[in-house]
Amino acid sequence: MAEPDTFYITTPIYYVNGEPHIGHVFTTLVADVVARTQRMRGLDVMFATGTDEHAGKVVEAAEELGETAQSLADRNAAAFRDTFERLGSTHDDFIRTTQDRHKRTVRKLVADLAATGDVYLGEYEGWYDASQEEYVPENRAREHEYRSPVTGRELVRRKEENYFFRLSAYEDALLAHIQAHPEFIQPPARRNEVLGRIRDGLNDVPITRSGGGDWGVRFPGDEDHLIYVWIDALINYISLIDDPDRRRFWPADVHLIAKDILWFHAVIWPAMLMAAGKTPGNEWLGLPRTVYAHSFFISEGQKMSKSLGNFVDLEKIDGFVQTFGLDALRWFLATQGPIGTVDSDISEARLIEVCNADLANTVGNCWNRIVNMTQRYLEGRLREVVTDGPMRTRVEAVLAGPATDALPLGLDDLSRGLALVREIDGFIEETQPFRVAKDPARAAEVASILYQCAETFRIASLWLWPALPGKMQEVWERAGLDYGATLADGGRGKRDAWSAWGGLAAGSELAKGPPLFPRHPTDS
Ligand code: MSP
Repeated sequence: MAEPDTFYITTPIYYVNGEPHIGHVFTTLVADVVARTQRMRGLDVMFATGTDEHAGKVVEAAEELGETAQSLADRNAAAFRDTFERLGSTHDDFIRTTQDRHKRTVRKLVADLAATGDVYLGEYEGWYDASQEEYVPENRAREHEYRSPVTGRELVRRKEENYFFRLSAYEDALLAHIQAHPEFIQPPARRNEVLGRIRDGLNDVPITRSGGGDWGVRFPGDEDHLIYVWIDALINYISLIDDPDRRRFWPADVHLIAKDILWFHAVIWPAMLMAAGKTPGNEWLGLPRTVYAHSFFISEGQKMSKSLGNFVDLEKIDGFVQTFGLDALRWFLATQGPIGTVDSDISEARLIEVCNADLANTVGNCWNRIVNMTQRYLEGRLREVVTDGPMRTRVEAVLAGPATDALPLGLDDLSRGLALVREIDGFIEETQPFRVAKDPARAAEVASILYQCAETFRIASLWLWPALPGKMQEVWERAGLDYGATLADGGRGKRDAWSAWGGLAAGSELAKGPPLFPRHPTDS
C-alpha cells in the first residue's frame, strides 16, 4: 500500500518573556483544528508548536523579576505548553529553542549558510525595535515617529558588528518563486504586499548580534557572536523534523503565522533555505509550500494592550472557558477569528452572540429535538436503517459540494458540518414529525424521519469534531458510538469512511442528557 501523504503544519514559536494570551492561543488552536481535520482526512500529520526563548526581551523581563532567563523561560514555556494542552491542542511536538536538539540543528545550518559565501562580517547601525526583536528601516521608522510599527514601543539607535546574510543576492530567485507559486504566500493580499516590498529592494540582514550577554546560540566559527534570535527561531521548523524518521515531513505544508512576522517567513526564511540547500547533503531542504499569515485579534474594538485593560490574558481565557465551555471557545476562534486579512474582535458580547446562534440554537438545539422526539415517539430507540430517504441525497450533496474556502487549511469542513445541521432543521420543518406522530397509522413515517435526522447529525458531528471535540464525543456516547478511542490516536482517514450513510445501527438508543450548549442571556 502507498504511504499516506504527509502534512506538516507549524505555528510561530512564542516568546517566553510573558505568559500566553489570546493571540498565541488563536494561532495554535486554529492549527489544531487544521491538524485534526487533516488527520481525519487521511494525511500523515505533523503538527508542531513551541517557544522562542533566546530573545533579548526574555533577558530583560527576567532581570526585572530578579531571576535568570532560564528560570523565566522554563516557567513560561511550561505555561504555554500547559495552556495549549488544556485547550485541547493535539500538537505532535512542542519545541523549545533552548533544547539541545534545536541548538545542534541551528549550528549546523548556520555553518552551512556561512560556507556558501553569502555571509560576511560588517557593521550595522539602525533603529532597533526591542519589542519585535528586529531592525526597522529608516523610512518606516520615520513614518512611525521612531516607535515600533507593531507595538508602539520607542525604537533605539543601535550600532553593532554583525555577520550579515546576503539577502540581496536572492531577490530574483524569491520573486521567481513567489510568482510561480501563488499558494506560497496566502492570503493573496499579503502576497501582493510582499511582492511590492521585495521590488523596493532587499537589504542584507544581520544573522548575529554582538553583546547582550550569552543567552543564545554561538555563531559557529566566531564564538564571540551569538546567532540573532530570529535566525535561531526560524530554524526551529527544521529542528523539529531533523531526524531520519521525520524528514519525510519536509517541506512544511503550512507555516501558520500572523501578519506581524510575515517578512521573516516569506522572504528571509526561504532565502536562507535556498542558501543552505546548496550544501551537499542538504538537497532535501526545499521551500515550505505555504506561509499563511492571518490578521490580529483586537479586543472590545481596540488593539489589545495591557494599559487599556482590554488584554485577553490567561485569566480571561480561563474565564471564557468557565462561562462558555472549551468547545465554544474553540468554535469561536476557528470560525470568527482573524483568519483572513481583516482584524476581528473578541469580547464577551461577541462570544454570547456566536455561541447562541451557532451552538445553542443550531447544533445543540437540533440534537436536543432529535433526542426528545426519539424519546417521545420511539421510546428512545431508532427503528430500522433508512437507506434511501431524501436526507441521504442531501447529505451527499453538501459533502460533495465545492470547497468554500481557498485555503490550504480545510476549515470549511466546519461549515459543512453546520450546513448538515441546518439541513436537518429544514427537513424537520418540511416533514413535521410532531404532527405525523399524532396519527398512529403513520408510526413508520415518524421512525423514518427520526432515523434520517439522527443519522445526518451523526455525520455532521464528524465534520464538526475538529473544533468541538468534547461535545461531539458526548453526542457519540449518548448514541452508543465508540469513535472517541480511534480519534484519540488521530483517527487517520476515518472522516470519509465514517461519513458513509447508515452508520447508526437499527435499534440505536439516543440517551437523554443536559443541553449540549446552554443559551446565554443577552442584554436585549
Ligand atoms: N518568536 C516570534 C516568532 C518566531 S517564529 C519562527 C514571535 N513571537 S510572539 O510571541 O510575538 O508571537 C507572535 C505570534 O503570536 C503572531 O504571529 C500570531 O501568530 C500570534 N499573535 C500574537 N498576537 C496576536 C493577536 N492579537 N491576534 C492574533 N494572533 C496574534 O513573534
